[in-house]
Amino acid sequence: MISVFGSKVGKEEIANVSAVLESQWMGFGKKVNEFEEKFSKRLGLENFAMVDSGSNALFMAVSLLNLPPRSEIILPAFTWVSCAQAILLAGHKPVFCDVELDTLNVNRKLIEKCITKKTKAIMVVHFAGKPVDMDPILELGLPVIEDAAHAVDSRYRGKPCGGIGDVGIYSFDAVKNLTTGEGGGIATRKTELIERAKIMRYCGIGKSGFEAAAASAGEKNRWWEYNIKEPFIKMLPTNIAAAIGLAQLEKIDDLQAWRKKIWDIYQSELKDVSWIIRPPDAADYEKHSYFTYVIRVPNRDKLARYLFDAGIYTTLRYHPLHLNALYKSKAKLKNSEILNEDSLSIPLHPNLTLDQVSLIVESIKKFKS
Ligand SMILES: Cc1ncc(COP(=O)(O)O)c(C=O)c1O
Repeated sequence: MISVFGSKVGKEEIANVSAVLESQWMGFGKKVNEFEEKFSKRLGLENFAMVDSGSNALFMAVSLLNLPPRSEIILPAFTWVSCAQAILLAGHKPVFCDVELDTLNVNRKLIEKCITKKTKAIMVVHFAGKPVDMDPILELGLPVIEDAAHAVDSRYRGKPCGGIGDVGIYSFDAVKNLTTGEGGGIATRKTELIERAKIMRYCGIGKSGFEAAAASAGEKNRWWEYNIKEPFIKMLPTNIAAAIGLAQLEKIDDLQAWRKKIWDIYQSELKDVSWIIRPPDAADYEKHSYFTYVIRVPNRDKLARYLFDAGIYTTLRYHPLHLNALYKSKAKLKNSEILNEDSLSIPLHPNLTLDQVSLIVESIKKFKS
């Protein structure tokens, strides 16, 4: 079965992980610091901290804003559950917003329809790595959380997605453009917020490991004592994850080039298939990261089954959140509901061969709806 998502690791990741295991220091440590430095440099981020998942980074991002309890936070309905869960877990109310049918992103107009007196922040998602039009949204003057889980290599008017709003998050899970197995990160333009994030990620204590304790042993007795700065859970990343990430950073250009090659093949090969609506390319002031290729088709379920039977796995990403009973939402979001019926992610990842891409294209072309 050809998988729909995936990442690619090789001997470099294996060598880096072996070195960490041999060092006997598997948890949080110097490799994390090295990854943070190199990732920030690559993207051009002012402040960045690694954590253990993108989902946890979202919870941290919402928490960092210090909003009054039960604040309304606007977010797209067409996104991963962690976005809404983070808002709820931080004691706030998710308010689901519709997305554009072509980009699958929110825009200012759609957001404005959801704004009330209780709105205290906006969460945007750069869907598939196509940047959200950030400037008009930032002009609303509300704090903006950017979910750049798909957008590790995306840029908007020269700026790195994830580093434009007040707080941004990344995901390095097993199928993302840059993987660390599981992992995530948080970026912000505000230095004081990143310092706080680094305290929060270790149960609100901050310093971790015996190096930190040994460092203070020079200055004080009872070096094992600490001041807990605030209540928070543990989100520490490991040296193992960082070691994988460091190898991935070295090859990210090649990984991205392969994703773009597949994307471009789909764009040209599916152009003349009249019943398919293809995703838009990046505008000239944007850079796409090609996380997933979403087509819109009539008879989506039938196409998905037909491709599955041909050994090609596809999926809907995502089941709109406002339709999920947990959130008790009364929202009617026309575009998200249309996408729920007609959108389909087809395989796009660095392990796909060109033969597999041809098979996918030919199978789709032969489909009779
Ligand atoms: C848009 C979006 N946000 C957040 C996440 C959560 O990231 P993680 O899997 O690292 O927890 C994902 C994961 O797929 C995602 O797609």
